[in-house]
Amino acid sequence: MDLRSAFAAEPGRAARCTAAGAGWTLDWSKQLMQPGTMPLLLELARERQVPERFAAMLAGARMNWTEGRSVLHAALRAPGTASIAVDGHDVVPDVQHTLERMARFANALRSGAWTGSTGKRIRHVVNIGIGGSDLGPAMAYLALQPWRTPELDCRFVSNVDGNDLSIALAGLDPAQTLFIVCSKTFTTQETMENAASARAWLVSALGEAAVIRHFVAVSTNEARVRAFGIDPDHMFGFWDWVGGRYSMDSAIGLSTMVAIGPERFRELLQGFHAMDEHARTAPLESNLPVLMGMIGVWNSSVLGLPALAVLPYDQLLSRFPAYLQQLLMESNGKRVDDHGEPVSWRTCPVVFGEAGTNGQHAFYQMLHQGTTIVPIDFIAFRTAAHPLGRHRVLLNANAIAQAQAFAFGRTADEVRAEGTSEALVPHRTFPGNRPSSFLWADALTPASFGALVALYEHSTFVQGIVWGINSFDQWGVELGKSLAVEAIKGLEGTSTCTTHDASTEALLRTLRTTAT
Ligand code: F6P
Repeated sequence: MDLRSAFAAEPGRAARCTAAGAGWTLDWSKQLMQPGTMPLLLELARERQVPERFAAMLAGARMNWTEGRSVLHAALRAPGTASIAVDGHDVVPDVQHTLERMARFANALRSGAWTGSTGKRIRHVVNIGIGGSDLGPAMAYLALQPWRTPELDCRFVSNVDGNDLSIALAGLDPAQTLFIVCSKTFTTQETMENAASARAWLVSALGEAAVIRHFVAVSTNEARVRAFGIDPDHMFGFWDWVGGRYSMDSAIGLSTMVAIGPERFRELLQGFHAMDEHARTAPLESNLPVLMGMIGVWNSSVLGLPALAVLPYDQLLSRFPAYLQQLLMESNGKRVDDHGEPVSWRTCPVVFGEAGTNGQHAFYQMLHQGTTIVPIDFIAFRTAAHPLGRHRVLLNANAIAQAQAFAFGRTADEVRAEGTSEALVPHRTFPGNRPSSFLWADALTPASFGALVALYEHSTFVQGIVWGINSFDQWGVELGKSLAVEAIKGLEGTSTCTTHDASTEALLRTLRTTAT
């Protein structure tokens, strides 16, 4: 497959391979596909019943069958007039009720009506959570920076490394600080340790009675929230049909709502919903999640390409690749199918990325001339939220030029024709044929941002269906978690385990001295 020849042979290739929906346009013409490839991939999607399975998910089917759960993140952004039943219960009123409670709380914080225990206004919100209870809100906080209130700032603590919490708390006045403890289960080790240390920090300054004014929770586990000392009236719930990595538009997005306000948060939800509707109704040929999903299937399972670089050309999306790592890799990093049989095709690629143009000066060398071909998703916006005139032109010019360079490269003859010495010709030659998609919207707004997240959510779904895996469980994180329990005992000198391998035993012995 040679992209130069493909473009030369078909002048309408770019137009044929461009689709739009929910404010986003996808140009996938630089993928390594012949004109007949996508129709075959769409046939595969039909054969795998992608539209039917998508409809079943929206109707509350237990798509996450290994955990016996429905998968209804789309209900989080459904209009209040919709009706979506789980076991005969309409969940839409519950969602709307929670949104209203969140809005009341967010408005009270933003206006200063909610004060800390000393009567001082809250100026700092610290979100404590990890994985889906951190990556979405932390990423959104950066992405939606132009819409944030200047009245307060949000910080995000996730790592069990005390450096994370220490850095977040540095310089904060406890009397003006509010913690949002986000944990679906309220059992996650990192979050519970960070929340306990944050609580101790607060109590040592303001006393035990202050906890009720300085801690709120987002969780599905009321008993544990209560046990921590958080008033259930200050708990914002969600449901077991919302997966952690699909939860940034649930109450897990409370910090987002506090930062940008309930109205902008509604716009964010409308953007998500617009993409849900596009995914549900658009023909497969112009359905962005289906196209992106099948491009991923092609690159990973057919071409055998092991990675995906996500390159947002907007600094506001600097944490978007990290967010996608969980969304894509925790969802589709699976090796057995619905019947428990090993799949015989490559599933989820390694996902990584960096905001352009920073990545250009770091790892693009390998993308251009390395021995591993890495498919790329470029993401760009026509306009900028800032007034710095030419910057957007330079930024987007770089994105377009990079996509061009990856696709068409530079031949040895072209390099020679520039007068390059023969010894340097191989070094200055670019092979090209490095596949990429170019995804763009008019502007980064709460709505277009919501639609972008939903686009990746649904393309992840499409791939999971085609690969025949469960995109909604995450058993792969369990082994390390449970071994860590024993390792803690090992480091604290209370372990009775005698069956560790020699390497683990040596590490526990060595690090024990530095840990104490
Ligand atoms: O990493 C595993 C995981 O269960 C993620 O799926 C989830 O987002 C994260 O831990 C946090 O879980 P919780 O919200 O229950 O603290």
